[in-house]
Amino acid sequence: MHDQQQHDVLIIGSGAAGLSLALKLADEANVAVLSKEALNEGATLYAQGGVSAVLDEKDSIESHVQDTLTAGSGLCDPEIVRFVVERAYKSIDWLVELGVDFTRADTNSDSNSPFHLHQEGGHSHRRIIHAADATGKAIETTLESRVRQHPNIHLYEHHIAVDLITTNKLSITGNRCLGAYVLDIEDNNVMVFSAKNVVLASGGAGKAYLYTSNPDSCTGDGIAMAWRAGCRIANMEFIQFHPTCLYHPMAKSFLISEALRGEGAKLVLESGEPFMHRYDQREELAPRDVVARAIDSEMKRLGHDCVYLDISHKSPQFIEEHFPTINKRCLDLGIDMSREPIPVVPAAHYTCGGVMINQDGQTDIASLYAIGETSCSGLHGANRMASNSLLECVVFAHAASEAIRQSLAAIKMPGKLPEWDESRVTDSDEEVVVSHNWDEIRRFMWDYVGIVRTTKRLQRAQHRIELLKSEITDYYGNFRISKDLVELRNLAVVAELIIESALKRRESRGLHFTTDYPIAEISDKGENTVIKAKTSENGHIAA
Ligand code: FAD
Ligand code: SIN
Repeated sequence: MHDQQQHDVLIIGSGAAGLSLALKLADEANVAVLSKEALNEGATLYAQGGVSAVLDEKDSIESHVQDTLTAGSGLCDPEIVRFVVERAYKSIDWLVELGVDFTRADTNSDSNSPFHLHQEGGHSHRRIIHAADATGKAIETTLESRVRQHPNIHLYEHHIAVDLITTNKLSITGNRCLGAYVLDIEDNNVMVFSAKNVVLASGGAGKAYLYTSNPDSCTGDGIAMAWRAGCRIANMEFIQFHPTCLYHPMAKSFLISEALRGEGAKLVLESGEPFMHRYDQREELAPRDVVARAIDSEMKRLGHDCVYLDISHKSPQFIEEHFPTINKRCLDLGIDMSREPIPVVPAAHYTCGGVMINQDGQTDIASLYAIGETSCSGLHGANRMASNSLLECVVFAHAASEAIRQSLAAIKMPGKLPEWDESRVTDSDEEVVVSHNWDEIRRFMWDYVGIVRTTKRLQRAQHRIELLKSEITDYYGNFRISKDLVELRNLAVVAELIIESALKRRESRGLHFTTDYPIAEISDKGENTVIKAKTSENGHIAA
């Protein structure tokens, strides 16, 4: 029997979404933040390009709204798009006040913004504020230094949430979230956290694919936990493939920012021949789905392993000033981007779908919120526009903080919750089952549920995931849990949700492209793909 942790708010995740929320609540609430790795590890730390916001007089809210809607291919919620875009200026102000050191405008800039602005795919103006090419690091480390100083924020690093505890799972009427079971990874001990409100800020699920720009933490845990607890999950077929990840045997998950294309970098074949003009009149600055499919098609047509991104028209000084992180990484691998093109391939990058939320970040379950990449807010529709994601994290952190603050007085702290039940499990003697299944999922997701899909391949993937899921559920029921097992179990749920959603969509729209239905059947108005959990699993809750 262990002590139970009690907090007003339990935030699962410490990226831009989770840490922004913690800071916004901490003056009035006692907040716990969980992070399954070091506090600053997660997709936020690796974000390069920046944050989109209307910061220049020549730009407008209308234009940012319209570009987002266009990229989203008829599936964005227009009210949410406007809600987010209108709050971008204030969000940037808040980050600047906290101390994020965004790159200042050049003295000869023709923009009236004090900040240098990049342009990226789908945006019709320069509106990406950035800290050179390491914007995520600047944001994450600033937020980290602030939360570490706040006496009301309690940080639990290397603690992985395993499952949510809800009234439904305890057979109490209604469905309210009461807390979570959390594995202390270093002590190998499952703790019980209870809270008046629980927030999923646990990031995306790029690790469901063999090739991804995402760090290891992106295993879709929040989506899987919410689904097991009975939340609706939407639009999981829309996995964004970033067109340009570095192609090199030593480069695991390294992104080459779209901001390079904003500065005129061209996509070329091995022969040096450009090809984007054959696919879209916006060429290199077409939205990501278009560019990623064009690259995929060229690679398949020619049997090549990669294409190339050429920014050698820019001076070495310009490159060092604007893209120091990318330049250093390339130089370390023997690629001088000021003189030669960079080998690139598309890779899974962003999960547009997720836990369905309203404008306050509330899910279907009372006292359970979801913000950031874990959520499906309606902002991205069928394809997220570049740099709208960090913005969404900050805007929804603010919205959720207001709703949570107002709710705190009325919600009673849950009483003692049932302990984690380990009475029927033993130590695993075959860890290879976990690593093998993990590899198998990622490989067939890449091969069968990738950039270009067919019904036959999706059905093949569905058959595989059904077998694997039952094996994993069996294993989970019989052996003591580890971080790897928790993540594998979640990855299997996420893979199943992606496949099921992709099979439901009988059209090609945004990021979902299938050769069996190559055009959208309904040209402008689309339907969200919504999946609801069939059962609410009890897991290891003690009777
Ligand atoms: P994350 O930053 O991924 O944080 C998730 C947190 O949850 C981590 O702390 C993790 O440890 C924790 N966690 C997960 N599961 C559990 C669990 N079970 N228990 C406890 N903790 C858990 N977007 C932009 O807008 N602009 C960009 O320039 C940009 N560039 C990008 C570049 C790269 C290489 C990548 C990968 C993404 C980029 N994106 C960009 C997307 C953007 O970075 C992410 O969507 C955003 O950072 C997500 O923030 P988040 O807070 O939702 O999740
Ligand atoms: C990039 O810098 O290309 C990533 C931007 C994003 O994913 O929003």
